[in-house]
Amino acid sequence: MFSAQKFIEKTISNLQKEIKGNALIAFSGGVDSAVCAALVNKAIGKHIIAVHVNTGYMRKNEPEQVKKMMEDLSLNYRFVDASTEYYRALNGVEDPERKRKIIGEKFIRIFENVAREEKIKYLVQGTIAPDWIESGGGLRDTIKSHHNVGGLPPDMELTLVEPLRDLYKDEVRKVARTLQLQVSERQPFPGPGLAIRIIGEATPERTELVREACDIVEQEIERASKQGIMDRPWQYFAVLIPIRTVGVHGDKRAYGNTIAIRAVQSVDAMTCRYSTIPHGVLDEISTKITNTLKEKVNRIVYDVTNKPPGTVEWE
Ligand code: XMP
Repeated sequence: MFSAQKFIEKTISNLQKEIKGNALIAFSGGVDSAVCAALVNKAIGKHIIAVHVNTGYMRKNEPEQVKKMMEDLSLNYRFVDASTEYYRALNGVEDPERKRKIIGEKFIRIFENVAREEKIKYLVQGTIAPDWIESGGGLRDTIKSHHNVGGLPPDMELTLVEPLRDLYKDEVRKVARTLQLQVSERQPFPGPGLAIRIIGEATPERTELVREACDIVEQEIERASKQGIMDRPWQYFAVLIPIRTVGVHGDKRAYGNTIAIRAVQSVDAMTCRYSTIPHGVLDEISTKITNTLKEKVNRIVYDVTNKPPGTVEWE
């Protein structure tokens, strides 16, 4: 049986042996990177710099929340706003694997720049087992290139340190709880962010639509869960589908976008079942999205696919 306490002790001792000098830690604000940061902080303390990259594909208010989180963890940090650069790099790109590779490479180039300035050669990442398994680890087929594995450029200069490589999400959460990290129950959010929740080109305008829709889905589901109307799903979000349909606003014709709602139950992200959301909650979400994004979104659909045959994210 997995013991979080034993894992913490062993990992701290391994990190002290493995990292000779200073290290960067890729800090997204999710549970994996926060656990990594807390462990490295315990192992080598002042010798780390946490780097958060705002890709422009973060959720609403997330950059501010992540800044606060790094401060609360007393991390020495750097915050890099690379949103313009990311939007430019993804201009005209529709293929999901190309998107993922561009995003993954950009992360590394940014970390390399900071590392050069700070004369650092180690990069600590919160890679967990499903990331490398689904990216074609071992003899497996590549399901999708997770940004922190399949998206790594072959000529990267940094030496990778991945203390959570063998853990699954439920085990990472156990470690987070043992470390008393508030982030332990936060729902997962993929490194490529909203870019892979926009089917097709992830332009700044389309990103704003899915950012708003994701925020509404999160707020409404969290509210309903707190009120005991439903159990909080493992992950819940919105996806922008490149299908426009005819709608009506008052007596005016509209020709707007489609948003899909995705909510799933899982233990380790390797499989999932779609969550059943009460119709009243779906109704609230639908009305809020179409009112907030009036004329831009006029149709909401609900994804009822398990994994397999689907995956959690649409790209
Ligand atoms: P999929 O879509 O593969 O998602 O069924 C399984 C879990 O992994 C998350 N995910 C990612 N996380 N980088 C990450 O850090 C990625 O490139 C990535 N792709 C998917 C997804 O949100 C789900 O929790």
